[in-house]
Amino acid sequence: MIYISGKQVKELLDMQTCIRLMSETLSALSRGEAIQVLRTAMKLEGRNVLGVMPSALLSQNIAGTKIITVLPENLYKGLPSHQGVVVVFEAETGSLKAVVEGNEITAIRTAAVSAVATDVLACQDAKSLAVLGTGVQARMHLEAIRLVRDIEQVYVWDRNMASALKYSVEMSEKFGIAITACPTSEEAVKDADIICTVTAAKEPILFGKHVKKGAHINAVGACTPDCRELDTELVKNSKFYTDRIESAIHEAGDFLIPFQEGVIGKDHILGEIGELLLGKIKGREMKEDITVFEALGLAVEDLAAADFVINRAAQNQ
Ligand SMILES: NC(=O)c1ccc[n+]([C@@H]2O[C@H](COP(=O)([O-])OP(=O)(O)OC[C@H]3O[C@@H](n4cnc5c(N)ncnc54)[C@H](O)[C@@H]3O)[C@@H](O)[C@H]2O)c1
Repeated sequence: MIYISGKQVKELLDMQTCIRLMSETLSALSRGEAIQVLRTAMKLEGRNVLGVMPSALLSQNIAGTKIITVLPENLYKGLPSHQGVVVVFEAETGSLKAVVEGNEITAIRTAAVSAVATDVLACQDAKSLAVLGTGVQARMHLEAIRLVRDIEQVYVWDRNMASALKYSVEMSEKFGIAITACPTSEEAVKDADIICTVTAAKEPILFGKHVKKGAHINAVGACTPDCRELDTELVKNSKFYTDRIESAIHEAGDFLIPFQEGVIGKDHILGEIGELLLGKIKGREMKEDITVFEALGLAVEDLAAADFVINRAAQNQ
């Protein structure tokens, strides 16, 4: 059995390449070339989850699944909160191609997808970025968003100010960019053109009253019906897009909670990023529009990223 480690994934899949790959994959999904079912999220103790995420890309002769554990408290034990593998098969023969470490795949592909969404939805002249959260995704998102917009100023907030300060020191050194650690999410977002919410929060951390007109938001952290990062006012007043409508109406608390409150209807979701990429639907129409990309994370993203790494590893042999 071929096993590809996280270290190899990092070496073989850079962020710029992954952004292009995710753009192609989301377009393929919207052309109907992928089989994508809802994930199974089996609850363990507390908020811990074991997730199984199957999909297939028949045009590329691959089928597979990610198997992942999500243990939010691991962050405070020095362990990754997301750990798993992506198992990839040849669709035609059913033979196993390889097993790929899933932590790095998840880290890279999630931020790459947000970059794709940002590229199609954010104002062209967006220059400031607010990152809410300081974990793995907060780090990957800074790397990814910088590749699609000319970011000059970054604001970061975490509920633990020491983590925000650590992030600002480490990431400003890594990317040579000004990063201000903020004591409140309001301060972090009030001047931001692009906002990434990448926390394990259950209750809103981003409020409509604090977001400036014209901002684009990547809402990444809340992927279950009972968790949300955005308040109802923000969702209601935004142009709302997602990676997969079927996933959003089953899994996204950011959408489902305002929907259950009766504030928005199902038609509030304007469409999928793949549809935007294919020019099937309209995106931002006015500079003052507030756009939201609700990211649930799709198995097909993991499958495409893992297969890319498997093929690169084979070429390098
Ligand atoms: N949509 C997707 O495709 C996708 C993919 C990967 C991760 N995620 C989700 O994104 C979030 C961040 O992932 P990560 O890998 O960076 O996790 P991480 O464990 O590395 O970081 C978690 C971050 O959330 C913050 N946090 C935790 N509880 C909070 C609370 N109650 N209020 C405010 N902040 C809180 C922590 O301080 C930390 O900054 C998680 O919820 C994760 O499940 C989504």
